[in-house]
Amino acid sequence: MTLRLEVEHLEVRYGDLIGVADVSLRVEEGHIVALLGSNGAGKTTTLNAIAGLVRPSAGTIRWRGEEIGGMPAYAIVPKGLALSPEGWRLFVNQTVEQNLRLGATALRDKSRIPQLLDRVFGIFPRLAERRRQSASTLSGGERQMLALGRALMSEPKLLLLDEPSLGLAPAVLETLYDTLWKLHQEGLTLLLAEQTVPLALDIADYGYVLQTGRTVLEGNLPPCRVYVAPSSPASAASSSCPSPPEGKRCPYRSSVIANDACPSCSCTVLSGSSTPPSASRLMHQLA
Ligand SMILES: Nc1ncnc2c1ncn2[C@@H]1O[C@H](COP(=O)(O)OP(=O)(O)OP(=O)(O)O)[C@@H](O)[C@H]1O
Ligand SMILES: [Mg+2]
Repeated sequence: MTLRLEVEHLEVRYGDLIGVADVSLRVEEGHIVALLGSNGAGKTTTLNAIAGLVRPSAGTIRWRGEEIGGMPAYAIVPKGLALSPEGWRLFVNQTVEQNLRLGATALRDKSRIPQLLDRVFGIFPRLAERRRQSASTLSGGERQMLALGRALMSEPKLLLLDEPSLGLAPAVLETLYDTLWKLHQEGLTLLLAEQTVPLALDIADYGYVLQTGRTVLEGNLPPCRVYVAPSSPASAASSSCPSPPEGKRCPYRSSVIANDACPSCSCTVLSGSSTPPSASRLMHQLA
């Protein structure tokens, strides 16, 4: 598979302060990679360095074999990288449509803008209804949609997403993740920084954990197992499984393992409880 993005020993300084000390990661075509870590771990700094918003002080950032570390954002966007930034960074005095059009600034073929606008409005009908509304009047969820839509307007090959879940209600968050999954199935590669791990884990197939500016853990994220709830109390009672394992319902990659059998016995009627993994369990999941 084609290697897309390769970051090696990235260091970013803010004056005397270190933003990230030593981050290395790879994102290959067709994958969703999660960048996990708590407050101040260096997720935003890493994404901003890749997107050309901050300059690395050491290390390399290669995109399709080309060194892009230190290039300005306006030179990086046309290469197929787009950032949906933390806190959205919208132009709040502009309308929804104007914000979206600004996302297409780097596009060489401007005649594609109407088509791209239609595509974003198709993905997020709420933005279509509010296209002439000022971005300052949008709700948190709508602002997140707009930030994502603006990033999509440059037709990226790799989308960098900085904490898309921030401040969103669970239902809005699930819709957003459904959209990300759909975009991924249409061919978009994603590097997803998150603090809230459960949904990022459901969607990503590889993960890196950052701690105080360093990559401390990486590994494949196994497809989650789907434990199907018994369809009726009667079938539950007839289940031969004495202690169904704790199950996690994964809305994304379920088809791969929908018929998975209970690991503790041969029954296939399993618990339908939905327990997202905690951060500590995630650390164990990362092989
Ligand atoms: N503009 C800046 N000036 C000085 N220090 C900064 C600046 N931006 C970030 N930092 C520092 O760099 C470190 C990494 O911050 P960063 O924002 O990358 O973390 P993060 O993983 O995105 O955290 P969060 O989950 O809270 O968004 C932190 O110690 C932070 O204080
Ligand atoms: Mg951040």
